[in-house]
Amino acid sequence: MSAPPFIVAIDGPAGAGKSSASRLLAVRLGFALVDTGAIYRTVALAASRQGIAFDDDARLARMLPALQIRFAPPVTPGGGQQVLLGGEDVSQAIRTPPMSLGASAVSARPVVRAGLLELQRRLALAPENRGAVMEGRDIGTVVFPDADLKIFLTAGEGQRAQRRFAELQQKGDPSTLDQVREDQRRRDKNDSERAVAPLKPAPDARILDSSELDLAGVVEQLAREVETRLAAREAREARR
Ligand code: DC
Repeated sequence: MSAPPFIVAIDGPAGAGKSSASRLLAVRLGFALVDTGAIYRTVALAASRQGIAFDDDARLARMLPALQIRFAPPVTPGGGQQVLLGGEDVSQAIRTPPMSLGASAVSARPVVRAGLLELQRRLALAPENRGAVMEGRDIGTVVFPDADLKIFLTAGEGQRAQRRFAELQQKGDPSTLDQVREDQRRRDKNDSERAVAPLKPAPDARILDSSELDLAGVVEQLAREVETRLAAREAREARR
């Protein structure tokens, strides 16, 4: 029997650089990428389209099983992967500031978190995956408490807001830096104070502060760590 996919859990607050680091790491290692924030965002988008309030647990619970959320390879090489809802590409629609706050709101609902666990695990454990880079808030604490490598990627609040502001500006979003900082504070507060699966490092996570590291430096460190652990795992298996 072949070994199960090697799971890399990358958790941390908004704007710490998780998305870019996870994408580059997955490409470098030939691993699947599971952006779990995109899944929560897609749930928020579907709810808002159907007129379901983000705290209406009964209707959210009824909506979830019918949602078909999938990832597809990027349209252009090096681009972000596509997020599909049914057959529709919602990659852009889920990245607006209202959907950021919507995702933060639906992700605080226990019915939503429970309803998405199976999907997240299935995407990572697909038999064709040699490994998976999973990006989120609770991967190392809840989704994969036995992940092969757990990273908690963080950065200073000002740095994170600056990065997010630059990203939104590039997309032509009119938000000001102050608005971005304010949204980020609200999201950080929601995400770390909620009762279920709050944002916090797993006890065995390695904490990496990206304030002083560039993206290439972060990816390099992570890739080496995974390669060392993968080689050790393969050597152990060969001895069996
Ligand atoms: O990573 P992101 O900004 O795309 O995530 C959107 C929201 O989803 C974020 O506010 C927190 C929530 N989230 C979560 O609660 N658990 C995850 N594993 C991933 C995201």
